[in-house]
Amino acid sequence: MPVRAHCENPDRRTLADLIREYRPGYSLEQRFYKDPEIYKAEIKSIFLKHWMLAGHVSQIPEAGDFFLFEFDVESVIVVRTKEGAVKAHLNVCRHRGSRICLEKEGRSKLLTCPYHAWSYDLNGKLMTARQMGTDFKKADNGLHPVHVELVGGLIFVSLAEKPLSLAGMKEDLADVFETFGFDNMKLAAQKSFPIAANWKLAAENYQECYHCAPSHQEYAKVHAMALSKEAFAAHREKYLAALAGKVRTQESPYYFDQAKAGEEGYQYARNPLLSGMESGSLGGKGIAPLLGTIAEFDGGASEFMVGPVSFFLIYNDHMVGYRFTPTSHETCCCDVFWFVRGDADEGIDYDLETLTWLWDITTQSDEEIIVNNQQGVNSHFYTSGRLSEMESFEQHFLNWYLSSMKDSISNTSKGQ
Ligand code: FES
Ligand SMILES: [Fe+2]
Repeated sequence: MPVRAHCENPDRRTLADLIREYRPGYSLEQRFYKDPEIYKAEIKSIFLKHWMLAGHVSQIPEAGDFFLFEFDVESVIVVRTKEGAVKAHLNVCRHRGSRICLEKEGRSKLLTCPYHAWSYDLNGKLMTARQMGTDFKKADNGLHPVHVELVGGLIFVSLAEKPLSLAGMKEDLADVFETFGFDNMKLAAQKSFPIAANWKLAAENYQECYHCAPSHQEYAKVHAMALSKEAFAAHREKYLAALAGKVRTQESPYYFDQAKAGEEGYQYARNPLLSGMESGSLGGKGIAPLLGTIAEFDGGASEFMVGPVSFFLIYNDHMVGYRFTPTSHETCCCDVFWFVRGDADEGIDYDLETLTWLWDITTQSDEEIIVNNQQGVNSHFYTSGRLSEMESFEQHFLNWYLSSMKDSISNTSKGQ
């Protein structure tokens, strides 16, 4: 019986062994999706190191507006200060550690801890703390700051002590941000999908469209990505030739395993929809005002990815963002964000249900297939499986993941 066999022969291989034994071209071994120790190492070497999408400036227009960005055991307060800046602080009181903000979003002049009422200003400076003695220094007890970078109106945070640079990405893609009006978008909707699966199964699923034709009929009626590899390549070549000069077609060269030292990995590419399609909607017609400087629908959508878990799909008239965050070693959350032009009015320029339909229904089916994936991976009989030619980006992701984990092991052992 497999259970007995497992008990008799416990897998004593270390993470370093598992990384060394990975077979390129195959999925990861089971322990990567189940082992709480590997998960702990991932939090340290991936989630406390890389940039992640926290949200959008349009969520916090006024001084004191805040929202929480949470993953694993962490909670970050993203807040608009009186001076108009976007700041982020760890939601951990410097007294005895209580959560300070308990609501997911709100507005407040001060950040006051509900336990013993220490209060902090919006910049994280400790303002009041009763009866702490004469030797207590308020200046040493401000909230732990979290790094923030804005990409247009997108708010990225990094919990690293010294974050990776986003400067190369910002410079390289400046024309993309200009074309699609990243400075002038607003968040029209956000929806969270809790998923009973390890975060990597969700992130991997996003990297490949091998599953699109069988699992996403609605998506496959609009996007050419669901075609076979050869049909897609031929369609894409024609599309890019016709598009030349209108929207950036040049792919960015760096992605995950190809990121420069000290820089965050990112990627940009323009891909065609099926002929005659304009946007990601029921029937493929445009559903919102054109973004940025776009003058007409060009029949495509751009993929834009930053760091390990933040992905964007830029249609001509709206942008969809995805973020996959771990909530435990066996659960994660997929957050979907829908962005439209900043001056578009709901009910007049776009209809919320029409806007969100495709990626709501697609993410619901993704959730189902990812959970099924985890359940099969949990079996005593699961073994690594061969990746398809249509899963080359998943292979990039796995290469990047394994090399990140390998680096963190060697850095840890150097530090010991
Ligand atoms: S834990 Fe926050 S005031 Fe005591
Ligand atoms: Fe999918």
